[in-house]
Amino acid sequence: MTKPDFRIFDTADAVAAAVAKHVASVIKAKPQSTLGLATGKTFVPIYRELVQLHQQGLVSFADAASFNLDEYVGLPANHPASFRAYMHEHFFAHVDLPRGAAQLPQTDRDLQSACVAYEHAIADRCGIDLQLLGIGQNGHIGFNEPGSPFDSRTHVATLTESTIAANTSDFPPGERPPGRAITMGIGTILEAREIVLVAIGPNKAQALLEAFERPQSSQNPASALQSHLRVTVYCDQAARPSS
Ligand code: GLP
Repeated sequence: MTKPDFRIFDTADAVAAAVAKHVASVIKAKPQSTLGLATGKTFVPIYRELVQLHQQGLVSFADAASFNLDEYVGLPANHPASFRAYMHEHFFAHVDLPRGAAQLPQTDRDLQSACVAYEHAIADRCGIDLQLLGIGQNGHIGFNEPGSPFDSRTHVATLTESTIAANTSDFPPGERPPGRAITMGIGTILEAREIVLVAIGPNKAQALLEAFERPQSSQNPASALQSHLRVTVYCDQAARPSS
């Protein structure tokens, strides 16, 4: 088992700037990189920084491609809380990543064949160079909830009540998030050549502690990353795991 490279900053803004620089350096080293992208509140300032770097002419995504980790099942295509809408608002609309090169799991068709197609599309791009990950308060990565097998592939996942509650504020008032999503599996995630996990705030400290300072357990899906040789964890002081 390996310990990730921990990079700890005083503020969420400092974390965002450092993660954006990390992504930009990967793209500069290999303009045709395939990125695995994440959503969530943690990534809003990170995409803002990346967009700024792009607008300053410091990074171009013109030859890159991306695959998002996950997407809700059952939302209409234009729903404001879909991850597709999030990505458009915070990133895709502001950078030169070609439209056809930015993929999310397709949840408006037969779900099983959509999962298989997603795995094939990632393989056709020769895999993911850099996978970005947030972490749920229960240790979930993508929508791989506690108990998910570490060798799982892209699949339809059932969300826990705690995840639904944590994501309710992303939805219009009175609307409950869907109970299902298509997510890359933990096995899919572990095949990325490099992984960056980001955690902000005190409510992520316990999940980080269990992911990286305790033995691996399927009860903390992020602990699967201990098996990966190239993981960098970016966090602020509040999320820093103290054992
Ligand atoms: C969501 C997403 C995850 C994300 C996590 C944390 O459920 N599926 O990919 O990392 O929750 O989100 P936030 O950054 O909003 O805390």
